[in-house]
Formats: sequence, structure tokens, C-alpha cells
Amino acid sequence: MNDAVVRAELVQKSYDGLSVLRGVTFEVGRGEVKVIIGPSGSGKSTLLRCLALLEPVDTGAVYLDGVKLSGVREKELAPHRSEVGMVFQRFNLFPNMTALDNVMCGLVEVRRLKKREARERALELLERVGLADKARQYHVMEGLARDGMTMVVVSHELRFAHHVASSILMMDEGRIIEEAPPETFFSSPSHERTQRFLALVE
Ligand SMILES: Nc1ncnc2c1ncn2[C@@H]1O[C@H](COP(=O)(O)OP(=O)(O)OP(=O)(O)O)[C@@H](O)[C@H]1O
Ligand SMILES: [Mg+2]
Repeated sequence: MNDAVVRAELVQKSYDGLSVLRGVTFEVGRGEVKVIIGPSGSGKSTLLRCLALLEPVDTGAVYLDGVKLSGVREKELAPHRSEVGMVFQRFNLFPNMTALDNVMCGLVEVRRLKKREARERALELLERVGLADKARQYHVMEGLARDGMTMVVVSHELRFAHHVASSILMMDEGRIIEEAPPETFFSSPSHERTQRFLALVE
């Protein structure tokens, strides 16, 4: 328990009376990759935001490296926040492009930067998030996982999950209803809801 990088203990969270997290206990150990799946609205993003200290919990607690940080004042959170990164749910970057190409692509297509500007800016951005050395790599998330980065990922990309996850968690209606290593999870999910969900996303 004490070498958990992130730990959530009986976390509850409601929005305007809507109970979104109903007592979630969860932990990720150093170098582990936990992939969270589950239907829309089950609370996956909310859990990630609570773990990343972007959202206060109503009851329960969040610990980073064994230090309880829920309930801590905003300005004391800053140094801890910088240790937690967030990735958009749709991180399925174009798989035939390097990390640099992916970032550049957004800058060119969306922000309308010139290619040369976009390249410079993209390199800066990758540098800032500690990914400068990954600029020329494909499959960056897989790479980071294999390099031992501790990760909690929301993804419905089962192939990615199968490849890199230490375990897969199934969320449903604000609860983690099942957690198992990928082999077990995919071959013999114990919950009927998990079986149905897998049948849908496969
Ligand atoms: N800031 C908020 N204010 C009010 N309701 C919210 C807020 N954030 C989330 N919710 C509600 O909480 C529930 C869970 O949302 P959440 O985004 O965590 O689900 P999710 O599992 O990530 O779903 P999806 O797969 O669609 O991303 C939803 O009913 C959502 O409308
Ligand atoms: Mg979400």
C-alpha cells in the first residue's frame, strides 16, 4: 500500500446531487499501467480528474506517494500537480506519424501555423512535457509504458490495453466493478456487465 504512487480511498463525488463516484478505492504502484474502461458517464474522467487533483473529492481521500492531498489548500497542491500528467481520452494519435508529426499536425491544421513554425513550437511543447527525446518515435504511449512510466489511462482501445496494461479496471455507475490483468480480464471477465461492454466495444 505504501509504495503506491497514486491511491484513492473510498472516493465519492457528486455534481448537483448526481452521484458520479460512489466509493472508489484504487491504487497504482510505481511503473504500473492501469487502463480504465467502462460505459459513457460511468465516471472515468471524473476519477482521473480527482486523481490528478484537478477536482476536489466530496468524501474519501487521494494520496500521491503516500501523502494525503485531498483537502489540502490549493497553493500547497501546485508542486504535487506538476508530478501528474494528463492525456486526452482520445490519445489515439495517428499511428503512422511520429510524436512530433502528431503535435505539428494539430498546429498546422487547427492553429494554421506555417510548417517551420509548427515544427519549432511542437518541439518546444514536447520538451515542456518531457517528451523531447520521443519526438521521432511512433507509438509514444506504448513506449512510455514500456519504459516504466506509471500510468492511469482511460481507453477503449483494447489492443493498446492488452499490450501495455498491468491491469484493466471496469467502471460502471461510479464504481470499479472489476479489476484483473489483461489476459484474465479479456478471456474471462467475471461480471456480466463487463462481458456485455466488451462485446460492444470489440
Ligand atoms: N463538472 C461537471 N458538472 C456536472 N456534471 C458532471 C461534471 N463532470 C461530469 N459530470 C457528470 O458526471 C457523470 C460522469 O462523467 P464522466 O465524464 O466522469 O464520465 P466518463 O466515464 O468519463 O464518460 P465518457 O466515456 O463519455 O467520457 C456524467 O453524468 C456527467 O454528465
Ligand atoms: Mg470521459
